[in-house]
Amino acid sequence: MATAHNSAAKGDFAKTVLMPGDPKRAKYIAEHFLENARLVNDVRGIQGYTGTYKGIPVSVMASGMGMPSIAIYSYELYHFFDVENIIRVGSCGSINGDVPVRDVVIGMGASTTSRIVHQYHLNGDYSAICSYNLLEKAMQCADTLALKDKVHVGNILSSDAFYGETPEMIQQWSAMSLLAIEMEAAALYMNAAAAGKHALCICTVSDHLLNGEHLSSVEREQGFTDMMRLALETAVSLEK
Ligand code: HPA
Repeated sequence: MATAHNSAAKGDFAKTVLMPGDPKRAKYIAEHFLENARLVNDVRGIQGYTGTYKGIPVSVMASGMGMPSIAIYSYELYHFFDVENIIRVGSCGSINGDVPVRDVVIGMGASTTSRIVHQYHLNGDYSAICSYNLLEKAMQCADTLALKDKVHVGNILSSDAFYGETPEMIQQWSAMSLLAIEMEAAALYMNAAAAGKHALCICTVSDHLLNGEHLSSVEREQGFTDMMRLALETAVSLEK
């Protein structure tokens, strides 16, 4: 069913959707990783494509930046387009001495500075976690792809304010053994749970917030390729 934000028809999306933040990245993924990709949404430039990877239907659609944005698009994909699995494929800033730039972080849990959890009117603090099935499949794929040494799994922080990430705040979350900061996973995980569906956040570490290191554009490309192979193999393994 088309919505105000998504003009696709029912059946236009595959069961599994990969979600980068950037619409141009969605286009790049469709053109370089999928076969026979066709554009299924372009409302507000939030490009969505459906094609196949190794013969299995897979979609890719941008989420935009931040939790209100991914919350809208993921809600609609889960509730109005019969999507079962959303795998976010983004970037993050490491806040952990054991997680260097170029590596890949999977958010087993997503803590947050956002009040988005309060939208669910729960009598306590909800723990936003990924789908265990997706995580298990992703780790099996990491093993097969010989990527296990550079994939870190743990708690991440979904932040609401990119420019509000002060050194003190970074130190506090780092001291709680969090791995990295990004801006979307907690809302995605909560939407998936409320819909009875599945979500996973996989991120390339593009910056290190403890030592200031960051990737060049060429290096970003390489890290991005590892993450994409992992996400696509995970999507395909869900069909087996
Ligand atoms: N904060 C939030 N999101 C990010 C960052 C960051 O430092 N780096 C890449 N994505």
